[in-house]
Amino acid sequence: MPTPERFGRPDAESLDRQDDLAPLRDAFILPEGIVYLDGNSLGPLPRRAVERLRTVAENEWGRGLIRSWNDHGWIDLPRRVAAALAPLLGASADEVAVADSTSVNLFKLLAGATRLRSGRRAILSERDNFPTDLYVAEGLAGTLGGIELRLVERDEIPDALDETVAVLTLTHVDFRTGALHDMETLTAAAHEARALVLWDLAHSAGAVPLALDAWGVDLAVGCGYKYLNGGPGAPAFAFVGRHLHQTFETPLQGWMGHAAPFAFESRYRPASGVDRLLCGTPPILSLAALECGIETVARAGIDSLRRKSVALTELFIRLVEEECGGHELHLASPAAAARRGSQVSYHHPEAFAIVQALIARGVIGDFREPDILRFGFAPAYLRFVDAWDAVTALRAVLESREWERPEFRLRAKVT
Ligand SMILES: Cc1ncc(COP(=O)(O)O)c(C=O)c1O
Repeated sequence: MPTPERFGRPDAESLDRQDDLAPLRDAFILPEGIVYLDGNSLGPLPRRAVERLRTVAENEWGRGLIRSWNDHGWIDLPRRVAAALAPLLGASADEVAVADSTSVNLFKLLAGATRLRSGRRAILSERDNFPTDLYVAEGLAGTLGGIELRLVERDEIPDALDETVAVLTLTHVDFRTGALHDMETLTAAAHEARALVLWDLAHSAGAVPLALDAWGVDLAVGCGYKYLNGGPGAPAFAFVGRHLHQTFETPLQGWMGHAAPFAFESRYRPASGVDRLLCGTPPILSLAALECGIETVARAGIDSLRRKSVALTELFIRLVEEECGGHELHLASPAAAARRGSQVSYHHPEAFAIVQALIARGVIGDFREPDILRFGFAPAYLRFVDAWDAVTALRAVLESREWERPEFRLRAKVT
């Protein structure tokens, strides 16, 4: 039998030439010589955001001053951004709010969920959930009293859904491994137990197709700065399914979530639907940048993005297998594309130093405790040659053992 040809850079270039999404790369500012595999942590700068931020700062803020709340529609910006985002979530515009951070939105929604299921004492989650999700739930349980955070292993979740569970809270795409939960099945299982479900979509929104309405999801949150490319510290989003709009209450009753903020009433009256989740004054500069990021991703269409994301991660896994065998790299992500988000992770005992050595070569991924090399494949701007170049750099780092250099062992505050 003829041996299959080894995949080379020209093959990757050929895939890029056939890629319908290739022109979208130009919508982002990406530094020369960098392979950016960290868009699952911080998306790059959308080209149009530069102009938009300048206009908002110089014209709307600088010249318009406070008049811009009306004249430039600042007051409606959170609603406009939520409406642009909703289709990417498989939700209606009036079920999505854009405000605060994911952590703060988790607090609001978890508190609202426990109120809707008063009499039940548990917030159920998995032990490996993203830490902020666990910290917020723990803090809320302590504040409320009579509520406990119950943690189980991933495969124990269905059996742990009993009559004491008020809300099941999970992250759809595992931040370490990229493993996808079956959102539809787990949502149905929680509902069977009369529990509510809150999904963290931080690593899903803008990368994985979602159908929150069709799957009957109650509540969800997610980040604006990852695959939505909203910029560092971009506002987050919160989703409340329409079936809860009449009964859902937020514990953070701020004036921007009031039915009539400028009536300055002394009693709180919630705005209708999800708009009550707004709390304080919206961050206009950040919202303007996020709007550009969302529009840029939405233009591609989530199904095309997912197709390309799968092709990129499949190629990367294949190339690591072919090029980096025998170097103690063990795939931490599910091998089946259908069970994986838009990232590929590996275990390696020297993961931290290897990631630093890769960054020094211009391949930016990240390290996650305890031993994970994590590579995000944001399909809006990555090329197939990026996957090839990253694996070439990884092989060079492993073969030369350059990760042993002392400078690659120094840990900065942010990893
Ligand atoms: C799954 C998940 N949830 C929440 C967060 C934190 O969100 P925020 O910083 O907006 O509170 C992150 C950050 O990386 C995350 O990965």
